[in-house]
Order: sequence, then structure tokens, then C-alpha cells
Amino acid sequence: MAFKKIGVVGCGLMGRGIAEVSAKTGYDVVVSEINRELLDKGMAAINQSLAKAVEKGKMTEADRDKTLSKIKGTVDMQEFKDCDLVVEAAIENLGLKKKIFIDLDRICAPGAILSTNTSCLSVMDVAAVTKRPDKVLGCHFFNPVPVMKLLELVKTITTSQETLDAALEWGKSLGKTVIVAPDRPGFIVNRAFMPYMVEAFEMYESGVASREDIDTGVQLGLNHPMGPLTLADMVGLDTLLFVIDAIYAETKNPKFVAPVLLRKMVTAGHLGRKTGKGFYDYK
Ligand SMILES: NC(=O)c1ccc[n+]([C@@H]2O[C@H](COP(=O)([O-])OP(=O)(O)OC[C@H]3O[C@@H](n4cnc5c(N)ncnc54)[C@H](O)[C@@H]3O)[C@@H](O)[C@H]2O)c1
Repeated sequence: MAFKKIGVVGCGLMGRGIAEVSAKTGYDVVVSEINRELLDKGMAAINQSLAKAVEKGKMTEADRDKTLSKIKGTVDMQEFKDCDLVVEAAIENLGLKKKIFIDLDRICAPGAILSTNTSCLSVMDVAAVTKRPDKVLGCHFFNPVPVMKLLELVKTITTSQETLDAALEWGKSLGKTVIVAPDRPGFIVNRAFMPYMVEAFEMYESGVASREDIDTGVQLGLNHPMGPLTLADMVGLDTLLFVIDAIYAETKNPKFVAPVLLRKMVTAGHLGRKTGKGFYDYK
């Protein structure tokens, strides 16, 4: 099944990237927001991202115009009615995601595939509120979507092979490398990533090494683009804590116990780059 029209719920950081990449690769796209102001902000960010691509010589002006003409912004979910695939990229809140899936299930054609970009919630939980759990899966993109090469598809115990195959074909057509993960806490990437981050936080908290030595050691010793504490500041400490807590809540695995310092830093509002202070100072 080849998709023609893609729906994206939410025009935030991830939704706008998914909309941009889909339009750039030839799909018609409809992207929704909760109000006009946020929609305008999201669409302006897409414009800006494409303008940057033109500036860098990665895209022609004609291709930029063609891409933009393929994206329709809306505040009306009814616009998803003729989409072949909808990717939900609203905030990470299970109650909200369930509500969105109930609406999508009612609005979209019976053959449409519904997916969520969740980082750590159970995909089965949102599939279960629909009458088409065989047509629901996770489409976990990485930030920034136009740059990051990976798409992690998440197959639940009810996702059909046909649904997975269609999503695989779509993901590859976006130019992504696609992997298939089980619907288990953390999927593949966060299951490997979070214990690594927890260990780095614990090393820093217990004074094993300075933040600079932890970062330099991992960066140069493992050839990573940056060290874990720098990366934590970039991702946002609140986001990391949320994911670690969510995986722990489902698994009770001690590898996913958030260090006390991380929790205190989040409470203090030291969330990383976005608040000007995290493991490092950005003011
Ligand atoms: N930021 C990341 O690095 C990242 C990476 C992978 C996955 N994710 C996941 O992607 C999802 C989105 O994250 P984000 O970083 O883009 O968040 P964000 O806060 O930047 O964007 C979410 C947007 O969804 C909108 N929204 C909320 N309810 C809506 C509704 N009912 N209809 C339409 N729009 C609605 C919000 O107004 C907001 O603009 C989350 O589930 C998150 O866990 C995030």
C-alpha cells in the first residue's frame, strides 16, 4: 500500500519535522495544531528550516516552493479524513494521546494507518482505544527530524504485517534507515540510551570524575559527537527524567532508577540549554 497523503498531529518540534520531510519527499501533508497561533509558529519554523536548506545549497528555491505547497496547516482534525497515514506528535501524555486516537479512529477512513511518535509510552495503550489495533504502530523519529537518519518503527502484538510493511516502505521513501522495535519500554534506542545516561549522572553525582572528564572521556574514547552531560543539557533534563521514570514504571528494572541529583535539578528548573543552566551554565 503506497501512501499519498500524510497527516501529522501537532506542529511542535517533531511534528513540523515529520511534515517537512514528508512533503519534501513528495507526499501531500496536513498538519494540525490546537490553535492558529501555534500553527502559525510551527509553519513559520518549517519555512525557516527550508529557507536554511536553500541558503546552504541543499535545496533549490523551486523545490522549496513545491515542498511548501504540499503542506496544509489546520486546526480542524476533520482534515485527516482522507489521509493514508497519520502520525501523532502531540505532547508526551498518555491521556491526551488516547483522546487523539479516539478522534482519529472516528475521523479517518477504515483503511488508514494511525501511528504515534511517542518516545516511551506504550503503543498498545493507544492502539487499544481504537477499533483498528491491527493498523496502529509507533513511528519514532529523532530530533531534528530532517537531519537524523533513523526511524524506529514500533510493532505491537496487534500490529499487522501489512501495516508494518506499508510503514517500512514509507520510512525508506523518506530517506530514513528504518529499524523495527518491539512495543517494550524504551523500544531499542532509549532502552540502550537511558542506562548509559543514568551511569553518567551517577558518576558525576558521586564525584567519580568532573563533568568535563566524563564528557571528554566518552566523546573521545567512544568517538561520540558529544559527551553524555552535554547531550543531557541539549535534550533537556526534564525530558530525560520523564523517559527514565516511564521505563522504570513499566519494568521496575533498577537500571532505570533516576539518580536523585537529576530529580533535584529538574525541580530546581535546571533543565539544560533551554533554561540556561543544567550540568553546564549557558548564561
Ligand atoms: N523532542 C524530541 O527530541 C522527541 C524525540 C522523539 C520523540 N518525541 C516525541 O514526540 C512527541 C512530540 O514531541 P515534541 O518535542 O514535538 O513536543 P512539542 O511540545 O514541541 O510539540 C507538541 C505539539 O503538539 C501540540 N498539540 C498538543 N495537543 C494537540 C492536539 N490535540 N492536536 C494537535 N496538536 C496538539 C502542542 O500544541 C505542541 O505544539 C512526544 O510524544 C515526544 O515524546 C520527541
